[in-house]
Amino acid sequence: MKVLLVGSGGREHALAWKIARSPLLKRLVCAPGNPGMAMLGEIRDTTADDAEGQVALAREVGADLVVLGPETAIAAGLADRLSVAGIPCFGPTAGAGRLESSKAFAKAFAQRHGIPSGRFGVFGEAGPAKAFLAGFDPPFVVKADGLAAGKGVVVATTLDEAEAAVDDALGGRFGAAGARVVIEAFMEGEIASLFALCDGETNLLFGGAQDHKRAYEGERGPNTGGMGAYSPAPVLSDRTVEAARSQLIEPALAGIAAEGAPYRGVLFCEMMVSAEGPRLIEFNARFGDPECQVLMMRLNSDILPYLSAAATGRLARLPAPEWREEAAICVVLAAEGYPGQPSTGQVIAGAEADFGEAVTVFHAGTARRADGALIVSGGRVLNVCARGPTLAAARDLAYRAVDHIDLPGGFHRRDIGWRALGDRPPARL
Ligand code: GLY
Repeated sequence: MKVLLVGSGGREHALAWKIARSPLLKRLVCAPGNPGMAMLGEIRDTTADDAEGQVALAREVGADLVVLGPETAIAAGLADRLSVAGIPCFGPTAGAGRLESSKAFAKAFAQRHGIPSGRFGVFGEAGPAKAFLAGFDPPFVVKADGLAAGKGVVVATTLDEAEAAVDDALGGRFGAAGARVVIEAFMEGEIASLFALCDGETNLLFGGAQDHKRAYEGERGPNTGGMGAYSPAPVLSDRTVEAARSQLIEPALAGIAAEGAPYRGVLFCEMMVSAEGPRLIEFNARFGDPECQVLMMRLNSDILPYLSAAATGRLARLPAPEWREEAAICVVLAAEGYPGQPSTGQVIAGAEADFGEAVTVFHAGTARRADGALIVSGGRVLNVCARGPTLAAARDLAYRAVDHIDLPGGFHRRDIGWRALGDRPPARL
């Protein structure tokens, strides 16, 4: 198969790494890709949201399958254009992708289809938003309606902080994405990420993981796109997964099809595992990042038949995917300043060493300088991933590699996996 993979982050590097292992692969083109992906396939200089440019590239390479990594490609309507061009696409249309691209749409959708979630309100003006906030007890959840790279969510502990988040979003911090804010009731429990492939009709569970959203250890600091992940996540018991499948995922996929936008791709269900059962936090229309990295480390099956079947309506013919009986962990190395404006251009040392078969370093915010040096080019820079017979073993391997890498001014969390391991983070090895 000839595959065009759209995107340039750690998620896309992990997908490229797994796709490159498929015996079905003939050619892999990554657009725009990153220096890590350049080791696995051809790199083309097109942005993920340049729908016209990506369709032209898909035609040029004769792609049998286009895989959409980031939400920006989905919101830009790339799947819609590829459908017109007759090119199979793993990733939903912009209409189905509204489950992620508009939080206001998604909350109202959940309500229409009986999907358990928290009380909410949607506001375009600060006055009514603040009046609504006054009806909640802390903590307060304030979200920008549109896409904000995982940074548009504020969980505020005081009313003042929540009101500032409303002013911030409506004041233009996230551009058009913050033209409306969604205020939600805070839900108690443990957050988990569950994935399902869908081909418009059939769906297939495709693994689960747990993310670490806050920038700093001890779940402190601002929300980020994710500072680390692990899989499997003990909180996702068989019972919880079954409840999430029947109460959150299946009604969503049936509902979006009934509303005229059948869903093809991966549905990422971010949920609160509460005492009452799983409750929807939000849907995303793509794999999680860094959750995808740990899923790819554990996936035993060839991924290409699954991506292709989801794109072409043939998922019913496939068995459930097989996973390694091992744990995987991912530690994100971030640039100074992240999740705000990251400081870029620093030379990274040690990231391209051979850490052994069980460790893989996925690139995200990296670039190759003309002299060949690897430099920082974005907020989340590297994803250091490891597999092991236990999560503790995987974590030790990952931190050994982390400690070998020099990312000037950068930072990472030492406590990835703390919920499952229930112990103190390891000291610097
Ligand atoms: N790690 C969360 C996300 O990808 O949205």
